[in-house]
Amino acid sequence: MRFIKTDDYEGMSKAAAAIVTEQIKTKPSSVLGLATGGTPVRMYELLIKAYEKGELDFSQISTVNLDEYKGITRDNEQSYFYYMNERLWKHTNIDPKRTHVPDGMVADAEAVCLAYEQTISDLGGIDLQILGIGHNGHIGFNEPGDVFEDRSFCVELSQATINANQRFFATADDVPKEAYTVGIGTIMSAAKIVVMISGEDKAAIVKEAFTGPVTPKVPASILRFHRDVTVIGDAAALGLLPE
Ligand code: PGA
Repeated sequence: MRFIKTDDYEGMSKAAAAIVTEQIKTKPSSVLGLATGGTPVRMYELLIKAYEKGELDFSQISTVNLDEYKGITRDNEQSYFYYMNERLWKHTNIDPKRTHVPDGMVADAEAVCLAYEQTISDLGGIDLQILGIGHNGHIGFNEPGDVFEDRSFCVELSQATINANQRFFATADDVPKEAYTVGIGTIMSAAKIVVMISGEDKAAIVKEAFTGPVTPKVPASILRFHRDVTVIGDAAALGLLPE
């Protein structure tokens, strides 16, 4: 694993945007695995700026998102589809047909998950996967548990995740209880992975994930078995790691 320590959130966002930019320039038809949440917001803004300056072309890029709430329509402001469209896609020349998010409105979980894995495989796999880490160590919506799930599945969200995501909803009751997520195996199949982490509130889980045992109880810990992971964290998030 390679660690890039930045002074602050802005630096983390710039360093991650630089890696994505390089990926797109090197392979204009890259398949990008994308994450939502608070952490990558600024990185997406920087990518839009680069596009507006004519430095980036998204026309041949494909994207596959990590996850989506179950039972939420794509035009719901809390859906991850909506997030991606607002925060990146609609500001670029990406072809909407090349953007992929699990369809949260399809109730047949097995069908959704099989179709999503097929989509990723038809694309030839993920070239660069962007990840955040939840306070409980989740990646995508792979919550702490007894096993590493291999492929996409429907997950019951943990209370910790529901509490963490309540900030985006009116009340905790409004947070969906289930979601579709790619599996750990799907994430680990990406050629390259960039993990973005910001803030002192993530320091304890970062230490656990990257210095403790590799265990499904801390899903992000599996990333240590991947050959090409770059962890980009600000000083606060990486503050408890050994120098
Ligand atoms: P955050 O979420 O970026 O909003 O902290 C990260 C995650 O839960 O994976």
